[in-house]
Amino acid sequence: MELKVFDNYGGLSVAAAEMIMDCIKDKPDALLCFATGDTPKLTYQELAAGIKREGTDISKCFFIGLDEWLGIPPHNNGSCHYFLHHYLFSPMGISPRQVHLFDAMTTNEEDECKRMNSIISKRGGIDLMVVGIGMNGHIGFNEPGTAIDAAVHVTPLDEMTKNVGKKYFTEEVTINKGITVGLKQVMQAKTLLMIANGKKKAPVIKKAIEGEISTDFPAALIRKHHNGILMVDSEAASELKTYFND
Ligand code: PGA
Repeated sequence: MELKVFDNYGGLSVAAAEMIMDCIKDKPDALLCFATGDTPKLTYQELAAGIKREGTDISKCFFIGLDEWLGIPPHNNGSCHYFLHHYLFSPMGISPRQVHLFDAMTTNEEDECKRMNSIISKRGGIDLMVVGIGMNGHIGFNEPGTAIDAAVHVTPLDEMTKNVGKKYFTEEVTINKGITVGLKQVMQAKTLLMIANGKKKAPVIKKAIEGEISTDFPAALIRKHHNGILMVDSEAASELKTYFND
């Protein structure tokens, strides 16, 4: 794993966007898997701007969403579906045929998992995954204790995820279950780019880098990833013993 510490959120976001653009340049038909949340917002804005500026051809890429709140319709502005369209697909002019997102309103969860598993395997796995880190160490909705060989699955949400998750919604909603790309696919991704910023993520980053490597804290598994890159700002790095900001 490679750890990169940036002075601030802006620097981190520019570097993350550049890495995504490099991946697309290297492999124009890449399968990219994107997280939602507060952390990647600026990365995606930088990516959309960079692609416009450089005229990067993104017409052959494919995009999947990392996860989704089950039961939250796509028009709800707290859904992952809404987020990805708003911050990425619309600004980047991505055609619907390039996008595969989870159907949060599915009546057949098993089929929905199979559908996403088969999209991933047909494309030979995920080329680049962009993920954040939850306050409980989750990656997507791979909550603490998820099996390392779990593929796409539906999961009850951890109490912490439900509490923190309220921040994404403007109205009160019930969020009990999530669907997510699994740890197996995270660990097999050709590149795993994990990003975190801000003081509140400092204890989480400390645990991910200096704690035990275990599925009890999924983010720590990046240390076992064959091509894991963790980009953090100096605030998120501030509790690391191994990092000196001088
Ligand atoms: P955040 O969420 O980017 O809103 O902090 C991260 C996550 O839960 O994965």
